Amino acid sequence: MTGATGGFGRVIVLRLAAAGWDVVAGARDMDKARNLVAEAAERGLALRTVRLDVACEQSCRQALEESAEMTGDGPWALVNNAGIPQAGAVADVDDEQARRLLEVNLLGPARLCRMVLPGMAARGGGRIVNISSGLGRVPWPMGAWYSAGKHALSALTHCLRVEAAHLGIRVSLIEPGAFATPMLSRALNDLETVRNPANPGYTATTRLFTAVDRRVPGPEPVARTVETCLTARRPRPRYVVGRDARLLVPIHTLLPLAWTDRLKHAVTGLPRTPQPAAPPAPRPAEQAAAAKETA
Ligand SMILES: NC(=O)c1ccc[n+]([C@@H]2O[C@H](COP(=O)([O-])OP(=O)(O)OC[C@H]3O[C@@H](n4cnc5c(N)ncnc54)[C@H](OP(=O)(O)O)[C@@H]3O)[C@@H](O)[C@H]2O)c1
Repeated sequence: MTGATGGFGRVIVLRLAAAGWDVVAGARDMDKARNLVAEAAERGLALRTVRLDVACEQSCRQALEESAEMTGDGPWALVNNAGIPQAGAVADVDDEQARRLLEVNLLGPARLCRMVLPGMAARGGGRIVNISSGLGRVPWPMGAWYSAGKHALSALTHCLRVEAAHLGIRVSLIEPGAFATPMLSRALNDLETVRNPANPGYTATTRLFTAVDRRVPGPEPVARTVETCLTARRPRPRYVVGRDARLLVPIHTLLPLAWTDRLKHAVTGLPRTPQPAAPPAPRPAEQAAAAKETA
């Protein structure tokens, strides 16, 4: 399980441990990992942790080796949950920030899938659960890189499911809507970091994220869905979780892009037409006269 100390991650590992799973929780911050183990112990649950930065190949390899040493074998299931938001307009997010997002949200999960496949195949099967987002199917302006990374993760997951089926490996994608985790405040920080004051989308998106953050439900439905992916005899290829995602995903799939563009303009405050240029400053009379003379 990657990103186990975060909003979804914490709830998922505690739920799975309570259900009797032998969970190895991947964490990039070992202080947070210790807190998680302590919280599990308070509930009478045993939880083991490994240091895991999904953006680093060496860390992925080492975490899987440590996990195999702890459990005596490679994982029967992998849950790719770690993710970052990297909000901001396409015009303002630089290559380094975009690359970082793709490392964490796409290349890391893909690499871990690749690393666990041979072991799962040798053991006759396994489960892979990739946590994408409703925004992977509803590309959201001011969060384009997040949507792009999740869209790519979805495509990769759907291909992997077909490629790995004959090995007895079941692959599922979860597309949550908005839930109460630190993810939204991380996105708000991103907006502050890359903010371009001339772009009205920042103010409206900050207002939107703040409002959403106040009303979103807790992350339990996502944890419940992960458990379903692991326990169902035939897990579904895809689970859309949350009322907002269940509403927005079909709307975005069915309506013409011109209509959904209008909706996005309205919500993000991004203007649909060029803004009228400021009228030219009146030239002083002498300047006008000089210009006349020259002409
Ligand atoms: N919350 C939502 O509304 C929502 C909606 C749709 C999809 N999702 C997806 O659900 C997943 C979990 O999100 P969340 O809401 O739980 O966010 P979160 O609370 O911000 O947690 C993200 C987790 O990922 C970890 N992480 C970040 N970079 C990492 C790296 N390089 N290596 C390993 N771990 C890393 C974080 O570690 P630290 O604790 O050390 O920072 C944290 O544990 C993400 O993939 C996100 O895109 C979330």
